[in-house]
Amino acid sequence: MTNLGKKQTILSGIQPSGNLHLGNYFGAVQQFVQFIGEGHDCYYFLANYHALTSVRDSKRLYDLTRGTAADYVALGLDPERCAIYVQSDLPEVCELQWLLTTVTPMGLLERCHAYKDKLQKGLSADHGLFAYPVLMAADILIVRANRVPVGQDQKQHLEVTRDIAEYFNNAYGEVFTLPEAYIPDQVAVVPGRDGQKMSKSYNNTIELFAPEEEVRKQIFSIVTDSASLKEPKDPDKSALYAILKLFCTNEEREYWADRFRSGGLGYREVKQAIFDLYMRKFESLRKRREELEKQPEYIDEVLKNGVEKARAVALPLIRETRAAMGIPNH
Ligand code: ADP
Ligand code: TRP
Repeated sequence: MTNLGKKQTILSGIQPSGNLHLGNYFGAVQQFVQFIGEGHDCYYFLANYHALTSVRDSKRLYDLTRGTAADYVALGLDPERCAIYVQSDLPEVCELQWLLTTVTPMGLLERCHAYKDKLQKGLSADHGLFAYPVLMAADILIVRANRVPVGQDQKQHLEVTRDIAEYFNNAYGEVFTLPEAYIPDQVAVVPGRDGQKMSKSYNNTIELFAPEEEVRKQIFSIVTDSASLKEPKDPDKSALYAILKLFCTNEEREYWADRFRSGGLGYREVKQAIFDLYMRKFESLRKRREELEKQPEYIDEVLKNGVEKARAVALPLIRETRAAMGIPNH
C-alpha cells in the first residue's frame, strides 16, 4: 500500500537502454503496479529519447523500446487501467522541453549528476546529456503529474523538475503542478551483483526476463566475502542479504537475518534461496512475457491507445503554456 489518499496523477518512465532488472522492478515498476491498483490516473512511458543519450545502435534501440513495452504489460501494468506509451509518440514533450529551457538556468543543469559525472571522468558530454533533465521535466509536467515513483538515483532530477516548474510559474503565472518523487525507503537502491547500485550500464544486473540458466548464473555470481561457512556474518553488510530480503516477508527476513548472524550458513545456500524466491515471484510473469513476444499487434494497440490517453491531457497543457508565453495557438 502506498497510502497516497485521494486520487493523484502518477507518471514515470524507464529508458529502454537495456534489459529490465531487479533494481528497475523493486525501485520502480512494483510501485507503478501498486498505484494502478489503488485507482490513480497513471501514465507509464518508455523514455526512448532519453535512451538516445546512450544507445546509438538503431535496431537495438527499436527492439528494446518495443520489448520494454511488453515487459511493462507482463509485469502487471494493465493497459486498460493506465496509459502505456512511447515518449517519441508524444512529440509535444519536445516542444514543451524547448519552452522550459528558456526559463532554466545553466547552473541548475551544470549541477546534475549524469552530466557532472561524465565531465569528471574526463569524457566530453553532448548537449543531449546536458539537457536531459529538462526533457524529463517536460515528460512529467505535460500530464500534470503530482507523484513520480522512481529510485533514489532520480531524486535530483525531480528536484530540478520542481525548480523549473517554479521558475516558469513565477515568470508566467501558475501553469504547472509541482510534482513530488515517490521513493519507498526499503527499495531506494537495489545493489547489483558487484555490490554497487544495480544498473544496466554497470554489467551487474539480475535480469527479469533472461533465460532461466542465465538468471541462475547471474544470481550465483553475486559477490561475497571469504568468510567460512561457520563464521557469523553481518546481514547488513551483505549484498546477498540486501537482494534476498527484497523477496521476503517480514518473518522470512528475520529468519534469514538470524541465520546470517548465528553462523553455519553458506553463501551457496543463500544464492539458491534467492533463485527459488525469484522464481516464486516472477515465474508466471515470465510466462506471460513469452506469450506477449508472439503478439506484436497487441503491443501496437497498447501503445496506440496509451499515447491517445496521454495526448488528451498533453495537448490542452501545451496550448495553455504557449498562451501564457505569448505564443499564438493558430
Ligand atoms: P538503469 O540505471 O539500469 O539504466 P534506469 O535509469 O532506466 O535504470 O532506471 C529506471 C527506473 O528504475 C528509475 O526509476 C530508477 O530509479 C530505477 N532503478 C534503476 N536501478 C535501480 C536500483 N539499483 N535500485 C533502485 N531503483 C533503481
Ligand atoms: N531519467 C529516468 C531514468 O533514467 C527516466 C525518465 C525519463 C523518467 N523521464 C522520466 C522517470 C520522467 C520519471 C519521470 O530512470
